[in-house]
Amino acid sequence: MELLLLILSTLLILTLVCHFFYLNKQNGPEKLPLPPGHVSWPFKYFETLDYLKKAKTDAIHEFIAERVHKYKNSKCFKTYHIGQKMVFLTSAEGNKFLFSNDYKLVRSWWPDTFLKVLENAGDEITIEDVTRARKQFLSFFNEPDALARHVAITDQVVQDHFRRYWDGCNEVRVYPLARKLTFDVSFRLLADIRDREILDESLPLMVQVVRAFFALPINFPGTTFNRAIKSSRKLRKIFVDIIKERRSELLEKKNLDERNDILSRILVENYKEGKDVDDVFLAKNLVALLSAAFDNPSATITSIMKNLADLPEISEKVRKEQIEIAKSKAPGEPMSMKDIKKMTYSMSVISESLRLEPPASGTFREAIEDFNYEGFRIPKGWKVHWSIHATNRNPEYFPSPETFDPSRFERNDPIVPYSYVPFGGGQHICPGKDYAKLQILLFMHHAVRKFKWEKVNPDEQMIRDPDLSPAKGLPVRLCPYACDNELA
Ligand code: HEM
Repeated sequence: MELLLLILSTLLILTLVCHFFYLNKQNGPEKLPLPPGHVSWPFKYFETLDYLKKAKTDAIHEFIAERVHKYKNSKCFKTYHIGQKMVFLTSAEGNKFLFSNDYKLVRSWWPDTFLKVLENAGDEITIEDVTRARKQFLSFFNEPDALARHVAITDQVVQDHFRRYWDGCNEVRVYPLARKLTFDVSFRLLADIRDREILDESLPLMVQVVRAFFALPINFPGTTFNRAIKSSRKLRKIFVDIIKERRSELLEKKNLDERNDILSRILVENYKEGKDVDDVFLAKNLVALLSAAFDNPSATITSIMKNLADLPEISEKVRKEQIEIAKSKAPGEPMSMKDIKKMTYSMSVISESLRLEPPASGTFREAIEDFNYEGFRIPKGWKVHWSIHATNRNPEYFPSPETFDPSRFERNDPIVPYSYVPFGGGQHICPGKDYAKLQILLFMHHAVRKFKWEKVNPDEQMIRDPDLSPAKGLPVRLCPYACDNELA
C-alpha cells in the first residue's frame, strides 16, 4: 500500500512539474505558430515571382492585400523575399510595433548585396564607429536653423540646373534630369562639391551602385552586381581624394567652419576633439549617404511632374501659390525658410505623391530574439519587413485611395498614426526628410513658374524595377511661360 502511495504521489508530482513547464512554454513565443504563408520550396519561388510581377506595375499593395485576405485579416504573413524568410507586417499598428521595438526586439537589417556594394560589412568597422558617424550626420540636421542655412544654396543649385538643362528646350526627359539635380544638390550638401567634372564622373557611378542594391549577388564581369562593386570603389576613391584635399586645407588653417557641408563639419569636429577618422571609412560612409540622399528625392520629383501633367487643376493651384510667393519678393532676393513655410499646398502635393508613389517601399529589421507578434512566433534571426504598401493605398486608412487628392493632407480629419510612413520611423527614421522636402519644394517653385508641360507618352506610369521610376524616363514637352507675364 505504501509503495502504491509513493508511486501515485511521484506520478502526481511529475504530472504537475510537466504541466508547469508546458504552461510556461505556452506563454513564451516558442510554442506559438509561425505566421501564415509560404517560405519553403517550391512555393517560395512563386512568392518572389508574384512580388516582382506586382512591383513592375507599382502594385505591391495588391501583393499584400491578397495575402491579408487569404489569411483572414492576419496582421502579418510570412513569405520569401529577396532570398530571405521574411515576415511582412500588414497594418499601421504593425509599423508602430516595429518602430517602437528598434534595438529591443529587432535591429536594422540590410540585404547582403547592399552591404557588399557599399563595402560597409567589413569587420574593421565597429558598431561604435557607425553610431558615431550617424550621430555626426544627424547633428548636422538637428542644429537650430540647419535647414534655413541650406535654402539659399539649394535654390542656387536648382536655378543653375534649370538654366543649364531645361531653358530653351522643347522637350526633356524628367527622370534623368531629376537625378542630375538631386545628385548635384546632395554632393553640395555632403562635401560642397561644385566641380562639374567630378559631378559628371560620379553620377553614372552612383546610378550603377543604387541599381545593384537589390540585384542578384552574382559577382561576375558584366553583371549588375559586379559593375556596382567596381563603381562603388571608384566613388570611394573620388571621396578619399576629396577628403585628403579638405584635410590639408584644415591643417593649413583655412577656415573650414565657413564651409557648410557635412564632410567639412565632421573633419573640423574630429580635429577639435583630437580624433582621427580613417579616410576610407569616412569615404564609405559618404558614398552610403550620397546613395540615400539622391535617389528618393529624384523619384519623388519625377512622380510630381507626372501627376501635375495629369492633373491641370492641381498644377494650376501649385502655380498660383508659387507665383504669390515670387511676387512677395524683391527682384534677386534669395529664397528663405519663410518662403518655404508658405508653400503649404505644394507641400500637400508632395505628401500625396509620396503616399501614392512612395520611392522607398520600406526597410527591414531582424529579430534579435524569438518574439510574439499578434499570437505568432517571429523566430530569432528572421527578417521583418515594414512595407509602406501595407497602408498607403489601403481604404481602411485612406478613403478613395487611388485618387490623387492633396487636400486629404489639408483637412482636419487626422491621419491614423503610422499609416503614412514614407520616411519610416523609430530610431532609423529618415534623417534627411525635411531637407528632401525643401529641395523638392524649391524645384516646384521654379518648374511651375517657368513651364507648362505635357507627357510625350500620355499613358506613361511609374514602375518599380526595383526602384520607382517612370517606364520611359518621362519625356515631357515644355511650353515656357514668360516670366514678366506672371509678375504682371
Ligand atoms: C523623398 C525623399 C526621401 C525618402 C522618401 C526617404 C525615405 C527613407 C526611408 C523610408 C528610410 C528608412 C527608414 C527606416 O528604416 O525606418 C530612410 C533612411 C535614410 N535616409 Fe532617407 N528618404 C529621402 C531622402 C533622404 C535624403 C535627402 C537624405 C540625406 C540628405 C536621406 C538620408 C537617409 C539616411 C542616412 C537613412 C538611413 C537612416 C538609418 O538607417 O538610420 N534620405 N529614408
